[in-house]
Amino acid sequence: MARQFSTVGVVGLGTMGAGIAEVFARTGLTVIAVDVDSDGLARGLGHLEHSTARAVERGKLDEAGKAELLGRISAGTSLDALAACDLVVEAVPERMDLKASVFAELDRICPPDTVFASNTSSLSITEIGVHTGRPGKVVGLHFFNPTQVLKLVEVIRSVVTEPDVVTDVVDLVQRLGKTPVVIGDRAGFIANALLFGYLNHAVRMYESRYATREDLDAAMRYGCGYPMGPLALLDLIGLDTAYEILDTMYHQSRNRLHAPAPVLKQMITAGLLGRKSGRGFYTYDAPDSSTVVPDVHTPVAASDAVPTREVRRVGVIGTGTMATGIVEVFAKRGYDVVLRARTVDKAEGAVAKVRKSLERAVSKGRMSEVDAAAVLARVTPVVEFDALSDCDLLVEAVAEDLEVKRSVFRALDEVCKPGAVLATTTSSLPVIECAAATARPGDVVGLHFFNPAQVMKLVEVVDTISTSADVVATARKVCLDLGKQPVHCGDRAGFIVNALLFPYLNDAVKMLEAHYADATDIDNAMKVGCGLPMGPFELLDVVGLDVSLAIERTLYLEFREAGFAPAPLLEHLVTAGRLGRKTGKGFRDYV
Ligand SMILES: NC(=O)c1ccc[n+]([C@@H]2O[C@H](COP(=O)([O-])OP(=O)(O)OC[C@H]3O[C@@H](n4cnc5c(N)ncnc54)[C@H](O)[C@@H]3O)[C@@H](O)[C@H]2O)c1
Repeated sequence: MARQFSTVGVVGLGTMGAGIAEVFARTGLTVIAVDVDSDGLARGLGHLEHSTARAVERGKLDEAGKAELLGRISAGTSLDALAACDLVVEAVPERMDLKASVFAELDRICPPDTVFASNTSSLSITEIGVHTGRPGKVVGLHFFNPTQVLKLVEVIRSVVTEPDVVTDVVDLVQRLGKTPVVIGDRAGFIANALLFGYLNHAVRMYESRYATREDLDAAMRYGCGYPMGPLALLDLIGLDTAYEILDTMYHQSRNRLHAPAPVLKQMITAGLLGRKSGRGFYTYDAPDSSTVVPDVHTPVAASDAVPTREVRRVGVIGTGTMATGIVEVFAKRGYDVVLRARTVDKAEGAVAKVRKSLERAVSKGRMSEVDAAAVLARVTPVVEFDALSDCDLLVEAVAEDLEVKRSVFRALDEVCKPGAVLATTTSSLPVIECAAATARPGDVVGLHFFNPAQVMKLVEVVDTISTSADVVATARKVCLDLGKQPVHCGDRAGFIVNALLFPYLNDAVKMLEAHYADATDIDNAMKVGCGLPMGPFELLDVVGLDVSLAIERTLYLEFREAGFAPAPLLEHLVTAGRLGRKTGKGFRDYV
């Protein structure tokens, strides 16, 4: 007969334990919480009080409901209080020695039928199990932070976990209103195995001053629609916890991408643990607060210290999706735009695309017919490069082929007026190669818009070792004027977004290839556990497997990181012509 869990123990009332206790109590279970000492307990109870008070403020709970919920939780500092529990969930810090000693003691205290669960993010459930006399009754129960909000719970079974224990725990997770996914015992399970390589990579970018913390976070929020940027997320997770997770993953995978970035250790040693200590990558107004306050690293509002160049007339070179999107963005904002195509036909076709997009906006009531006509009137199609001679800013958006781009830059160099800013929208080629094709490399900058340009707010402003400071400042100012979110980065393959995104997508393919979980479970884990707008396989099918493979190859060739080498499965799918949605088949089949 299935177990009915009614009294649950929670050991460790920290970031996770307090949230887990609340979720159980909310579902009507009796909770007995234990922390190591009175300080830990006071802090844990403070978390509970704070979190339930916020639920009342937001109208999700009334005062009586709050009192009832908290009334179901009793708390103390002795594990002996857990003798009557049907299930104990451990959420102490991520160290095997600590978890082992907690479970060894629980094993003596609790009856043999009590199920033991660890909320570990990365440690081996099998190893935790052998520290008890009941390895068959030990599972992983991996909640996500914030526990009250995120629905995913990874249920980890070891090779000896009894099947009925897994079934009963899965039932309980469903009773909590959460989404369980059952998986085997591997460091990082699904979500963290994919997430932490990405987080660590972001830390390395920060450490090497490739981009600021604000720009790294903005890039992933505005470029990928992530709910939080990687550094803000690390502050939420806790840097000490993140370090331990990475360290465990590295020892299992020996993948250098999992080796914790050195700055993490330095920050932990200095007591910067993230939100819980009031300071991590960002500074918060108090420990456990989510309110960021300015500190010495906060960028001062772009002052006029660096002069900018005046931009009124913009030339866009190209007729594809990006070019026409960018033409529309500039023309809508009131810039005069010269659209340069190779032939009259292509020029007319490109203007027609802009017209169609504007007509769609009119039909949806987002723009008046008069305004749409005015926008279109600002666009002048041309075929001669000479016609770009009076433009202040030139945006090249031709095919992603270095020789084609370099020939455009040579032509621009001949005709453009002195002082014009020359920008490339390349997403993977070195901007310096375009700059070197001109006699004015100081005027060349990368302006990496995202598709669809009319919608996506992010623009990566890429400066090369030659770009003048006022050119970068001008590019940034123009982006802000367009209502975009500019982020600043150096001239490396993938810039910020693609360099962080594609290795993660590649890791997901490798996980699928290793038969650890199927595409649906992996997609769900990332959406439900991490709040990402799309799962990795959904995204790969949308982007196109051929495009993704090309980006992964570029990253691999630039950084020579073994972990960036494209997964063979991706190569095989591309070879077989399964390119994603555009061919009707990719990781999934589409009708
Ligand atoms: N932080 C996250 O985002 C996250 C997400 C999922 C899982 N986890 C995992 O949850 C576990 C807890 O992490 P956390 O972030 O909540 O850590 P935390 O540092 O916020 O909390 C740990 C708590 O355990 C208490 N504690 C320490 N030793 C103890 C002992 N011997 N007995 C009882 N209590 C003890 C501490 O006083 C503290 O209250 C770790 O295994 C971690 O990997 C963390």
